[in-house]
Amino acid sequence: MLYSFFLTSHSVLRYVLLILLILTLIKSFRGWQKHLPFDAITDRLSFFTTVTAHLQLLIGLILYWISPILNYGRSHAAGWMADHFLRYWMMEHLVGMLLAIALITVGRILMKKANNDMQKHKRIFIYFAIGLLITLLMIPWPFREIIGRSWL
Ligand code: HEM
Repeated sequence: MLYSFFLTSHSVLRYVLLILLILTLIKSFRGWQKHLPFDAITDRLSFFTTVTAHLQLLIGLILYWISPILNYGRSHAAGWMADHFLRYWMMEHLVGMLLAIALITVGRILMKKANNDMQKHKRIFIYFAIGLLITLLMIPWPFREIIGRSWL
C-alpha cells in the first residue's frame, strides 16, 4: 500500500538524516576549532544532509495529504486545535520540521556565500546544530506521550 510505503520510508529516513547531521556537525566543529580547510568531505556531507532533509520534506508533504490521521483531522476542523494528538500531527510536526529543514537549507546557502573556510565551518555548525535540536524535539519518539510511535 502506498501509504505504508511512504510512512516506512519517512520513518527510516529520519535515521539517515540524524546520522548525516551528526557527522556533518562533528566534521565542521573540528574544522572550525582546529582551523582546518573546508574540504570536499565536509562539503559533500552538508550537501547530502540538505538533500535528505528535502526528501524527508517531500515524503512528509505526501503523507500530509494521504494520512488517515490528517484526513480525520481535516474533517473535524473545529476541534483539532484542542486535541493534543491532532494538533501535533496537523500543525506541530509540520511547522517544527519545516523550521528545521529551512535552517539546514539556509546554513548550506550561507556556507557557500562565506568569505573564508572558518566562516564556512561555523555557519554549517550553527545552523545544522539548531536544525538537529529541533528535529530531535519534533520526532514522535516511542517515549513521547500520546503521539509516540515505534522506533522504526
Ligand atoms: C526532518 C524532517 C522530519 C522527520 C525527521 C520526520 C519524522 C517522522 C517520523 C519518525 C514519523 C513517524 C513515522 C512512523 O510512525 O512510522 C513521522 C510521521 C509523519 N510525518 Fe514527519 N518528519 C519530518 C518532516 C515532516 C514534514 C515536513 C511533514 C509534512 C509536510 C511531515 C509529515 C508527517 C506526517 C503526516 C506523518 C504521520 C502520518 C501518519 O502517521 O499517518 N513530516 N515523521
